[in-house]
Amino acid sequence: MLDTLRELMGPFYLYIKFIHVFFVMIWSWSTAVAYSWYVKGAFVRWEKNPADSLAIQRRNWAIEQFDKGVVLEHIAFPVILITGPLLYFIGPWNLSFGWLLAKLAIVILVFVPMEVADYWLSHFGGNKEKLRKRNLPEKYERAIQLHWTFLKVSTPLITIFMPVAIFLAVTKPF
Ligand code: HEM
Repeated sequence: MLDTLRELMGPFYLYIKFIHVFFVMIWSWSTAVAYSWYVKGAFVRWEKNPADSLAIQRRNWAIEQFDKGVVLEHIAFPVILITGPLLYFIGPWNLSFGWLLAKLAIVILVFVPMEVADYWLSHFGGNKEKLRKRNLPEKYERAIQLHWTFLKVSTPLITIFMPVAIFLAVTKPF
């Protein structure tokens, strides 16, 4: 049964790989400019002048917009998590391929926990616009500061592990 399914899906391997790689591109880079030039700048300025009303206003605007812009990344991630296992299933792959084992370890130990936190901070309980519109200023401020702490912790991790995961997948060094 599985072999028949694998044979039926075989001719679509490269199309699925195209979708996998295309969404890896979206996942990897869609928030880079917004974070580096809008969010980080606004928060660093606010950290230097925490009482400056313009700095607070810009910080709040930037992080609310970031909650919206991260939707691209958050659509791409599940597509990657669906197409990856499909490639694994159709292709000649198993966990004795060191590159794949190492890549999956990064996905499971770094990317998945990070994205779970990010989904919550951006779209669920931590969504800033929702908290502002519900007139919950304390929760709003706490969510903003929690998101900034998360970004300060997760950015170095993604800066290291995202290229490593792509390097492993493309070069398959071991
Ligand atoms: C965010 C996580 C992921 C990233 C950044 C990523 C990245 C990539 C890239 C760049 C390729 C293309 C390699 C090439 O062109 O030779 C690739 C291929 C592949 N990925 Fe992923 N991937 C991710 C998640 C997964 C997951 C969860 C699986 C699950 C098993 C997976 C399995 C595969 C397989 C089997 C291939 C095909 C290798 C080939 O045909 O050469 N990937 N991945």
